[in-house]
Amino acid sequence: MAEHHDSAADGSAVELSEPRTVTSGTAVISADRFENPGLPVDHQRVTDLDPAQERKAERRIIWLFWLSLIGSVFAIAAYFIWPIEPGNMTSTRMNNLMLGIGITLGLFGIGLGAVNWAKSLMHGHEEVEPRHDTRGTEATRARAVEIFQQANAESGFTRRRLLRNSLIGALVVAPLPAVVLFRDLAPADEPHELLRHTMWEKGTRLALDPSGAPIKASDVTVGSVFHVIPESLAKLGHGDGYLEEKAKAVVLMMRLRPEELNEAEDRKDWSYDGIVAYSKICTHVGCPVALYEQQTHHLLCPCHQSEFDVANHCEVIFGPAARPLPQLPITVDAEGYLVAQSDFHEPVGPSFWERER
Ligand code: FES
Repeated sequence: MAEHHDSAADGSAVELSEPRTVTSGTAVISADRFENPGLPVDHQRVTDLDPAQERKAERRIIWLFWLSLIGSVFAIAAYFIWPIEPGNMTSTRMNNLMLGIGITLGLFGIGLGAVNWAKSLMHGHEEVEPRHDTRGTEATRARAVEIFQQANAESGFTRRRLLRNSLIGALVVAPLPAVVLFRDLAPADEPHELLRHTMWEKGTRLALDPSGAPIKASDVTVGSVFHVIPESLAKLGHGDGYLEEKAKAVVLMMRLRPEELNEAEDRKDWSYDGIVAYSKICTHVGCPVALYEQQTHHLLCPCHQSEFDVANHCEVIFGPAARPLPQLPITVDAEGYLVAQSDFHEPVGPSFWERER
């Protein structure tokens, strides 16, 4: 490139006055270049030929836009007509369904109307716009610099430094309230405390999810896996707080041969005859870990493929989870039912709180 060279003295680029020489360099120029096919034949549409069809198309597009309007208004009305009642899944489904219908019509009407407008009514001739050099002429470039300098001089942007810096400061700080609002996305006080306590407590029976039937140790065969909730949760019914409590307390229970379990000294009595119970909430971002591979004793989280080794305290052997699944200490009561010895000894679920410490 002959246009610029670096000045060794001051490191700035210097523009040369010679005209630019363009060469083909090492490019291979094909001898049999195909001919310019030109523009395709311009087919006239029915709306170009018949004014009645044009008016018909216009009416159709207006109807689509009106459909969109009706859908959007319906979505707003649906939000109030079918509100979500806490703990009532039917109301949640109804709300989502009606909102979905309204928003779908709103967007679908605009999209279809716009496509129809473009295809039926807007002029459809192909046009060619010759390319021009992206680099402006010297005169244009000089004029641009002149305009910038003039604007700078008239605004005093560089001269009034305090004013300029105040503006920059205000612009930088202005988006911060939005960032602060993100704080509302999680409980303000010690969010991990909410995950530390679940419904499990000493003597709570392990029950089948969702029936709530308590489970006897003798019912759990080697190789089986049970989805478990606290019996007290089943008694709570599907009222207030049921889902919140269930989301924290759900457990997976498996039975291995006792010799297959590699248990730490201080946790040897947390299992019962090869039966172990672990939180079902993934320690990555909280999906339910529900896939058990019986032969390898591995639990797999389907969300991002974290894998936990049940035989080794559910330690993470693959994936993004940062810590093992919390273990629920269990034993049996006098009637042979499996019961918790206590609550979990650590918060369940995502381990974001560990990074806060
Ligand atoms: S939530 Fe389980 S791996 Fe991401």
